[in-house]
Amino acid sequence: MEVSCFQRCRMAKVMAFFQVILGVLVIVVSLTSLQRFYPAGNFFHEDDQCKHFNGTNEGGYADFDMKSLSDRVDEILLKLANLQEKLETQVQQIGKNTDKVGLNISRTQYRKFLEEEIIQPLYSAHISLRQIRIPKVAGIFGREGHKEDPLINFFTIEEIRKYVTAKPNRLGKVNIYGAHKTYNTIGHTCVLMRKELEAYMNYDVGSYCKDDWNVAQKLMINGCDPLPRRRCLTRASKLYKKPLPINQSLWQIPDDRNVRWSNYQCKSFECLNNRNPKKGFSKCLGCFNLGKEKVKWIGNTSLAVDFLISEVLDIKPGEIRIGLDIGVGTGTFAARMREKNVTIITTALNLGAPFNEIIALRGLVPLYVTLNQRLPFFDNTMDLIHTSGFLDGWIDLQLMDFILFDWDRVLRPGGLLWIDRFFCSRKDLDDYMYMFLQFRYKKHKWIISVKSKEEVYLSALLEKPPRSM
Ligand SMILES: *[C@@H]1O[C@H](CO)[C@@H](O)[C@H](O)[C@H]1NC(C)=O
Ligand SMILES: *[C@@H]1O[C@H](CO)[C@@H](O)[C@H](O)[C@H]1NC(C)=O
Ligand SMILES: *[C@@H]1O[C@H](CO)[C@@H](O)[C@H](O)[C@H]1NC(C)=O
Ligand SMILES: *[C@@H]1O[C@H](CO)[C@@H](O)[C@H](O)[C@H]1NC(C)=O
Ligand SMILES: *[C@@H]1O[C@H](CO)[C@@H](O)[C@H](O)[C@H]1NC(C)=O
Repeated sequence: MEVSCFQRCRMAKVMAFFQVILGVLVIVVSLTSLQRFYPAGNFFHEDDQCKHFNGTNEGGYADFDMKSLSDRVDEILLKLANLQEKLETQVQQIGKNTDKVGLNISRTQYRKFLEEEIIQPLYSAHISLRQIRIPKVAGIFGREGHKEDPLINFFTIEEIRKYVTAKPNRLGKVNIYGAHKTYNTIGHTCVLMRKELEAYMNYDVGSYCKDDWNVAQKLMINGCDPLPRRRCLTRASKLYKKPLPINQSLWQIPDDRNVRWSNYQCKSFECLNNRNPKKGFSKCLGCFNLGKEKVKWIGNTSLAVDFLISEVLDIKPGEIRIGLDIGVGTGTFAARMREKNVTIITTALNLGAPFNEIIALRGLVPLYVTLNQRLPFFDNTMDLIHTSGFLDGWIDLQLMDFILFDWDRVLRPGGLLWIDRFFCSRKDLDDYMYMFLQFRYKKHKWIISVKSKEEVYLSALLEKPPRSM
């Protein structure tokens, strides 16, 4: 008797709990529906504002992504529906169990169920609801400033939403650039990679970031570039030692302890140096062997396609001071140029090896950019652009065109474009030659040589002409 009463009482308690929760659910669901009608409500209430739409919805809401909003609402409704279903099956199960053997869930099990299956999903639905931004009436019609960014409702992770929201200056002032607000930017492909981006941006503000630079790089390479900034502390090697002084760092392999190796197959520079094609990056076999790197561009080459740095600099004595090395490597070109008092910025991605780290540890400047982006330099500023092992025959011709025009933009009049061992198949050579020649640069050197039966090398040294227009 006692036992069954005990069980019945507990059962009643459980049911009461569920009733409370179902009640909350009902409220949430009705709230959701309310939210859904709210934007439509504008049309009915604010009669004179309808005129501004000029008869179409698109007029006023052009800047607001209705589809995203409705997707978000649908998502929440789905969450709630799932929750309800779970609750109902659970209630049914409890009913069955009482018929046979009495209620048999322990207090901790019950608590766990409530916390994980009910409270958390409910909370997340609640948060999602709060995050939905309905365009404010004044905002839509205001001339400036309050237009809702369509991207905000596209993402559900709060940090991304905060990131893409334009930040107006304090006190309504203009900033040092003369703008009223600041927009953070993300690559448009972030929208296609929403899941990955949301995983990337899901972190606790102020805490340590996940060790996920490779996830970030994957996003960037696939076009989510620029990637949003994050507000977490990036991890560093626990054993970081200060770098070598500049008179030693250029030609010494840095200390392994200065690099986080966890996302690479190789765990040391020694391993990368062993030229195992599986372990490094195939385009850069041997480039971690600084002994071998040391002979590049300074002499003893049998190939006509390999120009010497001294030859190139002699074309414009004293004029070449700053430049860019666009390619794949460990910064050896920049190191050599540094010895000639030329400052070279080296582009690098960490493809299979810590290229950025080794360049920086050698005392040179790595620039972490992909092909996706316009170069972050102003027009007519660089004395030299050197490129090797990079554009080669895989590249789409139109993409290459955009890239070459960007390089042309950045090079100063009289600046040099050094194409170093570009290679492609014989039959494509005419197309690529046209690409390089279309700018009508002055040809200082232009050499084509055989790479293999099918392929040819092209090296060229070209000078951007003055443009008086
Ligand atoms: C909307 O109507 C106003 C005047 O009624 C007109 O000046 C404006 O160009 C129209 N806008 C569009 C997008 O048709
Ligand atoms: C309740 O479950 C436990 C194991 O979880 C079992 O040992 C016990 O016999 C069950 N009691 C009833 C009344 O079914
Ligand atoms: C490197 O420079 C420091 C001073 O900057 C000097 O004391 C040291 O001897 C130099 N080392 C070498 C190998 O030249
Ligand atoms: C070129 O190579 C030869 C032998 O391989 C060597 O004696 C000579 O010093 C090298 N010259 C340069 C400039 O590296
Ligand atoms: C580089 O600059 C330093 C200091 O100005 C000078 O001593 C050195 O000779 C220069 N080197 C070259 C290769 O011009």
